[in-house]
Amino acid sequence: MTRTRKSSCKTHGSPLCQLPAKPQNELEPNDPALYERLAEQWWHPRGPFVMLHWLAAARARLVPAARPGAVLVDLGCGAGLLAPHLHGYRHIGVDLSEPSLRRARGIEPVLGDVLAVPLPDECADVVVAGEILEHVHDLAGAVAEACRILRPGGLLVLDTLADTAVCRLVAIGLAERVGLAPRGVHDPALLVDRAALVRECARHGVRLALRGIRPSLLDLLTWPVRRGRPVRMVPTATTAVLFQGAGRKKG
Ligand SMILES: C[S@@+](CC[C@H](N)C(=O)[O-])C[C@H]1O[C@@H](n2cnc3c(N)ncnc32)[C@H](O)[C@@H]1O
Repeated sequence: MTRTRKSSCKTHGSPLCQLPAKPQNELEPNDPALYERLAEQWWHPRGPFVMLHWLAAARARLVPAARPGAVLVDLGCGAGLLAPHLHGYRHIGVDLSEPSLRRARGIEPVLGDVLAVPLPDECADVVVAGEILEHVHDLAGAVAEACRILRPGGLLVLDTLADTAVCRLVAIGLAERVGLAPRGVHDPALLVDRAALVRECARHGVRLALRGIRPSLLDLLTWPVRRGRPVRMVPTATTAVLFQGAGRKKG
């Protein structure tokens, strides 16, 4: 059964809508207009998307070397921060933020909703969903679409935020306050239930293994004096905050 998650975002259901200009302090949590406001910042090495750069490097380490002609579909790709870390794939990026796609580098941009991906069944060798599942109001629908476009034997790679009190505290309360993520980018109501995620993937033939990750504390503490050099993401025992998932589709 498809469950619709409750969101406080009023505009999220209309993916390609043209949003009226609003001052940033009036935006709802998880308002897509945030990406319009911040579109210039995607590639800024110390900007509001800085942690996404670190996460992209960690995500890329889960992606195998490309065989000739291999296709990777990057769901909710933003400006394509994953692209510099990958080689050899035809890298297709799907996102509903046109201003973000205009800043994209190294991908074939496709304007679209991850809940109705405008790509054919089983077209991808690898499907990546990096920091997107915590932004959609229909987790089951997003997983179904990711698995639909994945070929049998293909790999699903994702990272996202767990629906836990500690995650709300660390990833929203703290990270947004200290500038590791844009303020208001997350809606706590959309954080991801790990058991539901694993179950939905299994329903579509993908056995997902999860592992927790966090920034290296040494890198993080010295980051202000390291002239924007990236912070490494390292494994951690708990999946209760930030976690990665990977699994192959049966077939
Ligand atoms: C936190 S950013 C992550 C971007 C990218 N995956 C990365 O890690 O750099 C979330 C992205 O998802 C996009 N997004 C949010 N909801 C979406 C949806 N329903 N369909 C497609 N893209 C969506 C936003 O426009 C934004 O670019």
